[in-house]
Amino acid sequence: DPRILELRAMREKVRLAGGEERIARQHARGKLTARERIELLFDPGTFHELEPYVQQRDDVLTGQADKTYGDGVITGFGQIGGRVVYAYAQDFTVQGGSLGEMHGHKIARVMDLAAAAGAPIVGLIDSGGARIQEGVRSLGGYAQVFLRNARYSGVIPQISLIMGPCAGGASYSPAVTDLIIMVEKQSYMFLTGPDVIKAVTGEVVDFETLGGADVHLGISGLAHLKAAHDQEAIALCRRVLSYLPANSLENPPYVPPEDDPNRMDEALNSMVPLDPTVPYSMHEVIARIVDHGTFIELQPTFAQNAIIGLARLGGNVIGIVAQEPAVMAGVLDIDSSDKIARFVRFCDAFNIPLITFVDSPGFLPGTDQEHRGVIRHGAKVLYAYSVATVPKISVITRKAYGGAYVVLSSKFMGGDLAFAWPSAEIAVMGPEGAVNILFRKQIESADDPAQERARLVEEYRQRFLTPYAAASAGYVDDVIEPRETRPKLIAALQALREKSTSPLRKHGNLPL
Ligand code: COA
Repeated sequence: DPRILELRAMREKVRLAGGEERIARQHARGKLTARERIELLFDPGTFHELEPYVQQRDDVLTGQADKTYGDGVITGFGQIGGRVVYAYAQDFTVQGGSLGEMHGHKIARVMDLAAAAGAPIVGLIDSGGARIQEGVRSLGGYAQVFLRNARYSGVIPQISLIMGPCAGGASYSPAVTDLIIMVEKQSYMFLTGPDVIKAVTGEVVDFETLGGADVHLGISGLAHLKAAHDQEAIALCRRVLSYLPANSLENPPYVPPEDDPNRMDEALNSMVPLDPTVPYSMHEVIARIVDHGTFIELQPTFAQNAIIGLARLGGNVIGIVAQEPAVMAGVLDIDSSDKIARFVRFCDAFNIPLITFVDSPGFLPGTDQEHRGVIRHGAKVLYAYSVATVPKISVITRKAYGGAYVVLSSKFMGGDLAFAWPSAEIAVMGPEGAVNILFRKQIESADDPAQERARLVEEYRQRFLTPYAAASAGYVDDVIEPRETRPKLIAALQALREKSTSPLRKHGNLPL
């Protein structure tokens, strides 16, 4: 039947998209094509493409158009780990993956389907940005995508893989999504490129230095994970999705744990040094408590005084927030506040219980932080925790001073359960600062001021810097041996599973 033959020929045209030569160029750069990426992302043979024959409208200026089928983007649905996921992949072989009117329509359409079906959407981005020759129609295309990124935020998980250029306004779409994974040395994101920067400010900079993976992982805090190549980025995306529910009405998938829920870890009992100024590794603490090998740290090189990430505990997914005492003593500052606050809201949106390990001397002092708005940024942390309705459990391992104590999942700010290790120090401030304020005159008039100060510091330490002061006031639910933390947390999570949600309102006014 010639009609079947025609369909087959059409399919072949769709498959070739920008043509062999451009596919070869893509491969020569170490990049996969959009179609190869889609094949790798989904379980074998499960992907179904939508609208493969969509074409660009005739150009208003020239009356001509690039009539490549698909208009530079592959959209559709399939399965990842046996669960339905929707995706789109921009095809750099067709007009540089640039986004025109129909390309934008296709993305908007697949996002609508994902939201209606209550399934995650993954965007594989490799694009020269707004398609210049389509003018305002391509800007309208972006507007449609941005609108949906925002409207579906907190409804379905949205993940962006940046696998090539993502320049100009285009970068705002991934910025709204929940997670950004960037491919090293191959992807970059910026609002204005090196040429424009040079013309406007005279500054000379290359793509990588301006907006490469290391920049957005370590400096801007825009991206969450990086990968060495396309294959690794896709594997990471599949792994992250296995921790997430399909939408905001579901719970994250439970996987029977291989790690014994009752496992105790003796090494934890000697983890926190007796000298409070000696650091230890909170990363190690986390690794020893969660199900073995399940921790996925997000933004690992940004604001390293804070740690965030997803893990499993007794088979259930949890969100972990912690401070790293080995970096700036685990202090809270502008960047770590932003990092923690957005993660708390992400977890809350997708029903992921929050476990917060606290070891922080408080907020970072100084004019730089104050003038740049540490109050405004720190406020996001307390706001995010206060309104989060998922189970919230804290474990105070050492310092929980002042504002840091209050905002980090404390009991009277809505934390459900608070545990403390025997090394916990819960106080308004550290001993030196406190003694200087409380006993200034007494110290000055002493025969030996240094000795008097040391005596008072020790007294303060004995009196306030133990978990029992807080426990006797009911601010701590239990003081536990560090080695028991894993079974205690698993039991606590179990006990909080059916926790109900908060009253309705249009929305709050998160300080931004
Ligand atoms: N609109 C239309 N076509 C575009 C495009 C855009 N925004 N970006 C790239 N293309 C086309 C190119 O014309 C080229 O077409 P061809 O294959 O028919 O020759 C193809 O995509 C590949 O682009 P090329 O420049 O050869 O690739 P590169 O890897 O050397 O550079 C970019 C990639 C993204 C750095 C470069 O194309 C670029 O600067 N594009 C414009 C980015 C921009 O400012 N966009 C507007 C932002 S809102």
